[in-house]
Parts: sequence; C-alpha cells; structure tokens
Amino acid sequence: MGRGKIFMLVALVLFAAGCTTGGTGEQAGNAGSAGGGRDGGAATARKKKGPNEQIFIGFLMDTLKEERWQRDKELVERRAKEVGARLSVQVANGIDSEQIKQAENLLSQKVDVLIVAPHNGEIAATIVEMAHREGVPVISYDRLIKNADVDLYVSHQVVKIGELQAAYLLKRAPKGNYVIVQGSATDNNARLLHEGQMNVLQPAVDRGDIKIVVDQAAREWLQSEALNIVENALTQVNNNVVAVVASNDGTARGAIQALDGQKLAGKVFVSGQDADLASLQLIVEGKQTMTIYKPLQPLAYGAVDSALKLARGETVQTNDTVDNGKKKVPSMLYEPQSVDKNNLVATVVKDGYQTLEKICEKVPAGQCPKADAAAAAITTAPQ
Ligand code: GAL
Repeated sequence: MGRGKIFMLVALVLFAAGCTTGGTGEQAGNAGSAGGGRDGGAATARKKKGPNEQIFIGFLMDTLKEERWQRDKELVERRAKEVGARLSVQVANGIDSEQIKQAENLLSQKVDVLIVAPHNGEIAATIVEMAHREGVPVISYDRLIKNADVDLYVSHQVVKIGELQAAYLLKRAPKGNYVIVQGSATDNNARLLHEGQMNVLQPAVDRGDIKIVVDQAAREWLQSEALNIVENALTQVNNNVVAVVASNDGTARGAIQALDGQKLAGKVFVSGQDADLASLQLIVEGKQTMTIYKPLQPLAYGAVDSALKLARGETVQTNDTVDNGKKKVPSMLYEPQSVDKNNLVATVVKDGYQTLEKICEKVPAGQCPKADAAAAAITTAPQ
C-alpha cells in the first residue's frame, strides 16, 4: 500500500501518576513521567485490564451525515465484535454539549477507553480531561482534539489530502480564477486541508497564474453552505471560475449544484474527498473531477485494536506525532490517494469500497470505466 515509513514504538502512557496496581515493569517508568503531565495532574489510578477481561469501548461520533462516517461506525462495530469487546456508539449530531454529556454517561458506566471523533476539536479537550480524571485513555479519531493530553491520534495524512486536491486541480487548470470551499471551522481537519491546499496554490498565486477569488468555510461541512458560497462566487466574478477546491465530497456536490445552475458543471474542475458513492457517480458523469480515497478499515480497526492495548496498558505502534498545542500526540496516519475516472477501478472498486455497478448506475455503459482497468494500477492501490 505504498507506506514506506518505518514504524517506531512509542510507549503510550495509560495510567495516572502513582499508579502501582497491575503495571508491568516495562510500563511503570513511563507511566510515572507522563502521568505527571496529565491535565490537572489528578488522574485517578485505574486498574489495567487483564488479557482475558472484556474491554468496554465508547465511540463518540460527531455525525453520521456523510457516508464515510456510516462506514466508520460499521467498521468499528465489526471489529469490536471480532475481538470480543463491548462497544457503545454515541452520535452527537454536531452538538458539543451532547458530545460531552455522552462522554459523561459512558464514564459513569465505567467505560475502559474512549474513541472520540470530535465535533469541535477545541471543546472536546474537556472530554479528555474528564476521562483522564477517571484514568480512561482517549483516542482522537480522524479529527484531532486540540490542547489536551490525548493518548493517541488515528487519522490520515490530512495536509497531504489538501495538497493532492490542489495539485490535481492546478494540473488541469494552471491559470485562472479559483474558489476554495473549506470545511467546518470547528474541525481541525479543515484547517489542515487548507494548509495543504495553500502549500500548492500559493506559488501559483505568487506567479500570477491563478487568483483565489473566494476562500470561505462551509459551516458544518454542509452541502447547502457550499452551494451558497459557490453561487455567490460565480455572481461576483461573472462565472469566470476555472476550479473549485472543495474540501470534501459533500461540499463538492454543493459546488456542482451551483455550477449546474449556470450550466458550468463539467466545465469547471472540482475536487472532493471521501470517495462517496454520489461523488464517484458525478466523476463518471464528468461533473466532479476527483476525490480522495481514504481507506477506512485500517483506521477503524486500528482504533479498536489500539483501544484494547491502551486499556491493557500495552504499547501501541505509531508512525508519527502531531502537535495538538499541548503535546506531540503519538499518531497513526494513513495514506490518502487521489481518485479520478481513470483509477477509480484500481482503487475504490478493487478495494471493495464501492462497486462499479453502483458507480455507473446513472451513466450509459460506454461512459463507465472498464472493470479490467484494475490490473493496470494494482501496485498503487491502497489496502
Ligand atoms: C472531516 C473528515 C472528512 C469529512 C468531513 C465531514 O473531518 O476528515 O472525511 O467526512 O469531516 O464530516
């Protein structure tokens, strides 16, 4: 799957300072030093789970609005079942107070470990503090929890996603007016994506090749917000736009609706992210230019497997660290991949993420990529 990084062992510290019960000799030293750095320094000692004890995992999700999160949920459920863990999944539907309340409830039910996909990366720091007071480790899932003593972060290389989106568009549209539709300002990923997008676009702006005429955040990653942003942008520059850097597939579809309204869909290049079925259909129709495929199975399975290890006081292998403002969080970051009409068979279809039948449901057979195209690029396909 093209991941060439050497994995290093990072000792993850699970329990509070002064915890002496059940600790292995290997863990004890680390636990002491990192426990002292815990929020408030008042974490309660918690007995580590033995190898045969069932582990109770709480998965706090922000939303199931996008197709990808429904898959994350299913995959986490499947893995938890496979490994015999007890699992409770809670969805906050974009409400921070709800997400905090759900964390409180799970902690009062004596959850052993929390996996959190935060709605608001700043506000969710409270969840980490609450959990650590009970000696419960926290895994930040897909989106980073900021300024908190997060135990582990599992995600994809988000800056790289932004770079891939922008690089693809810049290749197809090297000159002209660009619109950027960012993700939700509450989501750290939106910021990282924008950073990646600008890494690639800024030199072209500086050369005078492209001009970013509008650069706005779509509240809550809403398609309807993206529709408004792009509609207004088109009005502002008299439809003179060559590319829309949409940060995910939902916002891409909003952008395409706006372009459709001006008979520009298919003429203006549009990026995306998530390999949603609806967007892959637009890709074969020629209305969306590309998306980013993020294999979710390693993420979801990795989170569950790591949760078990954290609850047992074992170490977790990571391949990176990400600074969240408080610490360098040990991180497991998976590789994203650009997907367009030419390689969708070799990537999302080959992986079983989507089927070619469904992707091509709305187009005449001639417009559908050939199934055997998979053979051509197998070596580049992710797991
Ligand atoms: C991001 C996530 C994307 C997309 C978006 C909207 O944090 O990385 O895959 O789903 O949220 O929920």
